[in-house]
Amino acid sequence: MSNPAPAPAPVAEAEHQPAEAIAVDPAFIASTREDNDSSSAYSEAAPTSTASLSSSILHFRELHGRTYQNFTDSEYWQPNDERHNDSLDLNHHMFLLLNNNKLFHAPLENPQSVLDVGTGTGIWAVDFADQFPSARVIGTDLSPIQPEWAPPNCKFELDDAELEWTFRDNEFDFVFIRYMVGSIGDWPRLYKQAYRCLKPGGWIEHSEFRAETACDDGSVPENTIYDWWTKKLLIAASERIGKTFTPTKDNKHVAALREAGFTGALHTKDYKVPLGSWPVERKWKEIGEFNQASLEQGLEGFGLLLGTQVMGFSLEEMQVAFAKMRQAFRNPKWHVYYPWYVLSTPDALATLD
Ligand SMILES: C[S@@+](CC[C@H](N)C(=O)[O-])C[C@H]1O[C@@H](n2cnc3c(N)ncnc32)[C@H](O)[C@@H]1O
Repeated sequence: MSNPAPAPAPVAEAEHQPAEAIAVDPAFIASTREDNDSSSAYSEAAPTSTASLSSSILHFRELHGRTYQNFTDSEYWQPNDERHNDSLDLNHHMFLLLNNNKLFHAPLENPQSVLDVGTGTGIWAVDFADQFPSARVIGTDLSPIQPEWAPPNCKFELDDAELEWTFRDNEFDFVFIRYMVGSIGDWPRLYKQAYRCLKPGGWIEHSEFRAETACDDGSVPENTIYDWWTKKLLIAASERIGKTFTPTKDNKHVAALREAGFTGALHTKDYKVPLGSWPVERKWKEIGEFNQASLEQGLEGFGLLLGTQVMGFSLEEMQVAFAKMRQAFRNPKWHVYYPWYVLSTPDALATLD
């Protein structure tokens, strides 16, 4: 856990921006106990994708007081209740801070037709539609958790992105995919469907965090709860459900995009997203605080279904893990960050690279 994020394998890129280093605030003293004990080792016939709303879909599944989507049989592991959705919205704000208030990285010119795959609460799609009133924006998701009110140029559809897409060939100028770790079993297939639905010269952007915490200054010892959470929970569970939590590791996403037909230049940007108030610079401190707020809000939702249903841990074991994770988030001595990667690339016929 104390390792820095491994540098991605080199790829031919039109433009690559490495992650900025983040300096530690020496004055930072958390309000939590100094004797934080979280450093102690921790033991161990294809249907199509869209559907109109039916009451059974709105009957969510319940698990330990949380609700989950009921649109497909897939055990999508994040809850879709308000408590969890707040975590997604906090994340959205954090991404805006990270990216100087920009909603995307691709060099779009006058986008008219945009798809947000796995839109969640729809907050990105709504913001995009507001910013580009002449664009038609569609946000799709397994869960109908988007606002009833949205700008007139923004609409939401229930859709399983892993099934055959119902969108037309060459329909979109921009396909946006953000924060879909652990959601997709076949990334090349997903990218292929995006490729088919993009206009010649349209752009795809995939913005993704890697579920492995990292640290550059050795401040986090080995075998903390972070290691357990990453390896014994997220990665182990993702192997069981067949949906990776590290789709960007070793540039797997680049290979998958190439396989899908995206042969154009790559525009990439790496980030280190701090967790907590430890950075000295105001911008990074704020990002770290939002990241912590989002993770604390979402923590139970990230772990509950994967822990109890996929990995077979008891509810009590998971509650202990949640408590230790919260302690770890609040540990002022640990300078932890999550690697975050953004890649945008045009359809093969783009002229912008
Ligand atoms: C972590 S949230 C991210 C939401 C949004 N992209 C964002 O960045 O705020 C992942 C979303 O993907 C949706 N999702 C997961 N698997 C999906 C699938 N196969 N098809 C469509 N949506 C899916 C979930 O319901 C959830 O809302």
